[in-house]
Amino acid sequence: MACAIVKASPAEGGKPGASEAKQADPSQFVGSETCATCHEEVAKGFATNPHAKMAEMHGKNGVTCEGCHGPGKDHVDGGGDAAKIFNPAKATAKEVDAKCLGCHQGEHANFERSAHGEGNVSCVACHSVHKSETAEHLLRAEQPQLCYQCHTDVKPQFSMPFHHKVDEGLMKCTDCHNPHGTYGQKALKSSAQQDAVCTKCHTETAGPFVYEHAVVRTEGCTACHSPHGTPNPRLLNRADVNTLCMQCHSPSPNFTTGPIPTFHNQAAQYQACTICHTSVHGSNTSQYFFNSTE
Ligand code: HEC
Ligand code: HEC
Ligand code: HEC
Ligand code: HEC
Ligand code: HEC
Ligand code: HEC
Ligand code: HEC
Ligand code: HEC
Ligand code: HEC
Ligand code: HEC
Repeated sequence: MACAIVKASPAEGGKPGASEAKQADPSQFVGSETCATCHEEVAKGFATNPHAKMAEMHGKNGVTCEGCHGPGKDHVDGGGDAAKIFNPAKATAKEVDAKCLGCHQGEHANFERSAHGEGNVSCVACHSVHKSETAEHLLRAEQPQLCYQCHTDVKPQFSMPFHHKVDEGLMKCTDCHNPHGTYGQKALKSSAQQDAVCTKCHTETAGPFVYEHAVVRTEGCTACHSPHGTPNPRLLNRADVNTLCMQCHSPSPNFTTGPIPTFHNQAAQYQACTICHTSVHGSNTSQYFFNSTE
């Protein structure tokens, strides 16, 4: 699926706190102390919540609970009328997102265009404001379990003989993906150079090289590697390196027309292409990606 280039408008986002609460009628707000009189448990737990900082904003008006639940006067006057207070647990995904993005738009400008936003996976599918299971980021569960709850199809890939060590806790799904969406395909992050996410860690493959292997630039790392895991060493898409290379190179003149040079005689010698073409990601010294010492 092609991804539209949409420009973020940082001016609209701003820091969390630029909420609509400010614009609403102040007389409809009762303040968090009032909420606490009936919701003692929730209010107590809230002291360590990063959202408690909201109390310091807007001239210390104490708009914390109502920053998310909306003005509470009618709810309180009704003796706790559940119909008169916004409860994200009962709202639609879009209503929840709109509420949260009212403050978090700046950080997560791509969310509604992401697969999660479009798939009605709302903020509270992954985050829990009052009952979070993690020390950081108010998550419902630690990674990767959080992600596996829905992506059961992806889980077995990380148990393959060769895999990125996500289940072992050495890496996280969010090292490569941003669940809030990105400008790239498959919610993939990019490196600082706006290159593939992979080169952030595997810097030696990043180039630029004097002699590029064109396919690295055009199709990316996944032309040859399976990023989650595979049965093949080096996370390669094919069990046999030669089969991998011949996917693209078998129709090339050197293999099909004219006498096949001895070094390419597949029948005579099943040598891995990478024995000779060692610098397969690109080279500064050899057009044919031979070892720099040759
Ligand atoms: C006078 C006591 C009282 C005060 C003050 C009060 N609540 Fe409530 N609230 C209740 C009661 C009782 C319920 C349970 C209603 C039910 O389950 O029918 C409730 C339910 C809720 C719910 C869940 C609604 C739902 O859909 O089930 C939310 C959210 C809530 N309150 C938020 C707040 C907030 C925010 C404030 C402060 C602005 C506040 N409450 C102040 C008594 C109060
Ligand atoms: C950052 C947004 C946010 C703030 C701030 C917030 N809440 Fe909530 N509240 C939620 C969400 C989201 C839910 C739905 C349950 C969930 O996902 O955790 C909820 C649910 C509730 C409920 C219903 C509990 C239930 O089990 O269904 C009550 C009561 C409540 N909040 C009270 C409060 C009080 C009191 C405060 C202030 C001390 C407060 N909330 C501050 C987002 C917020
Ligand atoms: C599919 C799961 C998922 C959804 C949906 C989701 N988040 Fe997150 N969010 C995460 C994870 C995981 C992290 C921690 C990222 C990390 O560890 O790098 C996070 C981190 C954050 C942070 C901390 C800052 C940051 O980017 O690291 C904020 C704020 C946040 N999310 C807000 C939201 C809001 C607002 C929404 C809805 C518009 C939302 N999230 C939807 C999974 C999700
Ligand atoms: C009224 C503004 C406001 C609303 C609405 C709001 N937030 Fe926040 N949020 C904040 C502020 C302020 C912080 C603290 C930021 C900081 O520490 O720098 C915060 C922090 C967070 C964090 C923790 C960030 C971290 O680095 O760990 C998460 C996750 C988060 N919000 C998710 C949500 C979700 C989900 C909703 C909707 C249910 C929501 N927020 C609604 C203002 C808001
Ligand atoms: C090393 C980087 C990396 C890590 C870590 C990673 N992914 Fe991916 N993921 C990718 C790449 C690259 C793609 C795109 C594959 C493609 O287009 O062929 C992808 C694709 C996906 C897709 C799209 C499904 C598909 O087959 O197209 C899902 C869903 C996904 N990843 C979930 C996860 C989850 C969940 C985790 C953690 C358990 C995770 N990923 C960890 C790099 C990573
Ligand atoms: C509540 C369910 C749910 C959770 C939790 C969840 N996802 Fe998803 N995810 C979805 C749905 C639904 C889609 C869209 C349909 C699809 O592609 O399967 C999706 C799509 C994706 C895609 C494909 C993006 C694209 O543009 O095609 C990636 C990558 C992904 N999720 C990563 C993650 C990661 C990483 C986590 C954990 C931080 C996570 N998801 C948690 C439900 C979830
Ligand atoms: C956050 C850092 C990080 C990112 C991002 C990352 N990797 Fe890795 N990768 C590692 C680490 C660490 C190892 C080796 C440890 C292990 O076995 O998991 C590794 C191993 C590999 C290997 C196997 C190397 C060998 O010697 O067998 C390949 C191939 C690979 N990664 C390709 C990729 C590709 C392709 C991407 C992008 C989709 C990517 N990596 C993204 C950290 C990363
Ligand atoms: C044209 C196919 C192809 C592409 C595209 C490709 N690789 Fe590789 N990669 C290989 C092969 C083949 C090996 C194994 C080399 C060997 O066994 O000597 C390898 C090995 C690796 C290794 C293991 C260490 C090493 O250098 O031997 C890492 C890490 C790696 N690749 C990362 C990446 C990253 C990151 C990208 C994208 C920037 C990428 N690869 C693109 C074919 C490719
Ligand atoms: C997904 C397709 C693809 C795969 C797989 C692939 N290549 Fe390439 N390769 C290309 C393209 C495209 C070029 C640049 C066009 C050209 O010169 O033929 C290229 C160029 C080359 C060149 C330089 C040719 C020249 O004339 O300068 C060599 C050598 C080469 N590849 C070797 C390999 C080896 C070895 C493998 C397996 C590890 C491999 N390629 C896998 C697509 C691929
Ligand atoms: C024994 C060493 C060796 C092996 C093994 C090898 N090559 Fe080569 N390759 C060469 C030499 C030598 C050249 C020619 C360099 C020149 O023309 O100066 C070459 C050239 C190439 C070229 C560029 C040809 C052209 O004229 O455009 C491609 C593409 C290529 N090899 C792909 C492969 C593939 C794919 C494999 C594995 C199936 C492979 N090679 C195995 C030594 C080898």
